[in-house]
Amino acid sequence: MADLPNTFWSGWIAVITIVSLLGLVWLVFTIYFPRGKADQEHQGPEPTWDDNLREGSNAPPLWWFWMIFSAMVFSVIYLMLFPGVGAFSGALNWSQGSRLAESFDDFRAEYQASRAAIVDAGLTELQDDTVLMETAEKLFSRNCAACHGVDGRGQASLFPNLMDIDWQWGGSPDQIEQTIRHGRSAMMPPWQASLGDDGVAQVAAYVKALSAGEAAEGHPGATQYGSFCVACHGPDGTGNPILGAPNLSDSTWLYGGSIEAITETLNNGRQGVMPAFGERLDDAQIKLLVAYLAR
Ligand code: HEC
Ligand code: HEC
Repeated sequence: MADLPNTFWSGWIAVITIVSLLGLVWLVFTIYFPRGKADQEHQGPEPTWDDNLREGSNAPPLWWFWMIFSAMVFSVIYLMLFPGVGAFSGALNWSQGSRLAESFDDFRAEYQASRAAIVDAGLTELQDDTVLMETAEKLFSRNCAACHGVDGRGQASLFPNLMDIDWQWGGSPDQIEQTIRHGRSAMMPPWQASLGDDGVAQVAAYVKALSAGEAAEGHPGATQYGSFCVACHGPDGTGNPILGAPNLSDSTWLYGGSIEAITETLNNGRQGVMPAFGERLDDAQIKLLVAYLAR
């Protein structure tokens, strides 16, 4: 019906509503106030059956009439005030949609104050509030736990541990907020083509040595590391939070610290993506998550 002109149906519905209302008024009035006694007499004497059973022509009690009459008056007033006659929106301009919007506004106004308070609060203040931290924990399990694990300790050698002191993209509240709000896309290129199997093996060994604190100048992988890796991971392997290049000189690994895992990383590269939540969460929710993670 959506492709028919709306006014066509609206007009018909209005006509049918008004005609049936008038018809009802006419019916009720003719029953209660028949046209003159003369007409009745004209129809001849009242028929009688079985000696004493008479048809009778008394109208129903008058209070019925008043009841029906007030119902009709109510209908007319109702149809004038509220939508009901075709597309006429009624004198009060009431609609389910605007009703919903109103109650949504009420709801927003009620929570706006506490949301604003959260956004303005200092991080330690939020962290000391156990109720708010429970809310943050719930937000985390609803939005983040699928990837980062229920306890936020990461999983599957794909999703980083968020409860340690090691931050790939920086651990300051501002950097964490940036990560949550806008997401992060890491870009670690594949090296198999430029290094070959031997080169990969040498650099992997060098990375292993870096993390053990045993990297020496003369290490066979040092030259390649110096030419291919320093730009992002730094000369001493401490990484660069602006690029999301992780610290290779510690014992924390995202994709695994075994020679096999490092070789896999070097052969194929890694492109971890943290989705952006700026559209899905509001400022107060993001602030709570930052406070939760920066503890
Ligand atoms: C363009 C910048 C860039 C260059 C050049 C680069 N990396 Fe990376 N590397 C990254 C980024 C970004 C990540 C994080 C990838 C992710 O999170 O998905 C990474 C991740 C790694 C990891 C995984 C660390 C972990 O915790 O699992 C290793 C190992 C690594 N790089 C070694 C190297 C080596 C060795 C070289 C030189 C051959 C190199 N990278 C060159 C940017 C770079
Ligand atoms: C679809 C999976 C996924 C979801 C959901 C997800 N993340 Fe992530 N997150 C990742 C991946 C993958 C990375 C690592 C990106 C990289 O390799 O650099 C990451 C990285 C991060 C980092 C950076 C860690 C560091 O060491 O710098 C933070 C902080 C973070 N996520 C917080 C969150 C929060 C808070 C939520 C929930 C609102 C969330 N994530 C939801 C996949 C996810």
